[in-house]
Order: sequence, then C-alpha cells, then structure tokens
Amino acid sequence: MIFLEKFNNIKNIRFEMFKKVFDISLHRKHKTIVETGTSRGKIKFFFLKKYNWKDGMSTPMFGSYAKYIKGHLYTCDISEDNINKAKSFTKEFSEYISFHIDDSLSFLEKFDKSIDLLYLDSLDGHNPELASKHQLSEAKIAINKLTRRSLILLDDKGSKTNLSIDFLLKNKFKIIFETEYQVLLSK
Ligand SMILES: C[S@@+](CC[C@H](N)C(=O)[O-])C[C@H]1O[C@@H](n2cnc3c(N)ncnc32)[C@H](O)[C@@H]1O
Repeated sequence: MIFLEKFNNIKNIRFEMFKKVFDISLHRKHKTIVETGTSRGKIKFFFLKKYNWKDGMSTPMFGSYAKYIKGHLYTCDISEDNINKAKSFTKEFSEYISFHIDDSLSFLEKFDKSIDLLYLDSLDGHNPELASKHQLSEAKIAINKLTRRSLILLDDKGSKTNLSIDFLLKNKFKIIFETEYQVLLSK
C-alpha cells in the first residue's frame, strides 16, 4: 500500500498499528470505515494547518485508505472547528469522507449501515474515568453494527479503554494485536 509511506513518520507512534489494521482490513475486503474523534491537526505560524502526530492523524490515514479501497470513511466529532480543520487537510480524499458534527453516541445510534472497521478515539485521555465510560458507551451502541469480519480499534490504551476491552471480550471479541497505545479486536 504505497499511500501509507507518507504516514511512515518517526513521530507517528501509531504507524505500526495502522499498517496492521489496513493489511487485515484489505484482506477482509472492508468498505465502510467509521471513526469517532476526527483529526484536528495543529496551527503553525497562525495560519498553516499541520499534521499533529501526537494525536495520531487517523483521519488522513483512514481517508487515504478509503480512497485506495474505493470505500468510505464516516468521521464524527463534536467540534465544528475541528471538523473544518480536518476538511482542509483531507481535501484530496474528500470524495471518500463524510464529516459529521455530533456527539459520538448520537452519531453511532443514528448510523444505519454495518461497520467494517471502527475506530474509537473521541474525548481526550486526561480524565480516564470519563473517557473510559464514554468509550464503553460507544462500544455498546456500535456492537450491533459490527459483523464477524469487522475490526474495532481502540485508542489510548490504559486511559480510554479501561471498560470497553472487558465489555468486548465478554461479547466474543478477541484481542488480535496491540501496541503500547492501541488495542485491535475482532471476533
Ligand atoms: C484525541 S482527539 C481525536 C484524534 C484523531 N482521531 C487523530 O488520530 O488525529 C479527540 C476528539 O474527540 C472530540 N470529542 C470530544 N468529545 C466528543 C464527543 N462526545 N463526541 C464526539 N467527539 C468528541 C474532540 O473534539 C477531539 O477532536
């Protein structure tokens, strides 16, 4: 997957996981990708919008992948400002991305398609209790939209994943890969 090379940056600590996810997803012929928590980038020199590797830059990575597989990325964020920033640095994949300004729980409730690849990365990990409860609520809503061939990727292991991993394990999901930062599950 040549498109991935531009994301193979030393600062991209999540690259190894994304490479793994895209390999499995490609093999499984996935088409529908959903993420909660859109990339916000960062402003440099007042106006230049830059990638923010600390956050992960999942939206451009998923956007590039959606274009590569001719699939579609649905990304949701509660902040209109963040969505507008993401639109500006994902212009080249705009045909393959739908942006939703909404609370992720409400967005996932309304989402009416089966999800092939789900990434849960809304909220920040500063408040692990709140963030873990929120990720658990997301997982509870999304679980009925996942199939045996779906992948679910959880970000911020240890700060947002404290309740969702147990919930998914109790519901026949298994951990198939993990790094210091993220956990990948599937049935
Ligand atoms: C860690 S950042 C997402 C980073 C992004 N996935 C990346 O890799 O670049 C978390 C995002 O979640 C958003 N957020 C916070 N609460 C939310 C909620 N209840 N529903 C949806 N998004 C929310 C924030 O506005 C923020 O943009």
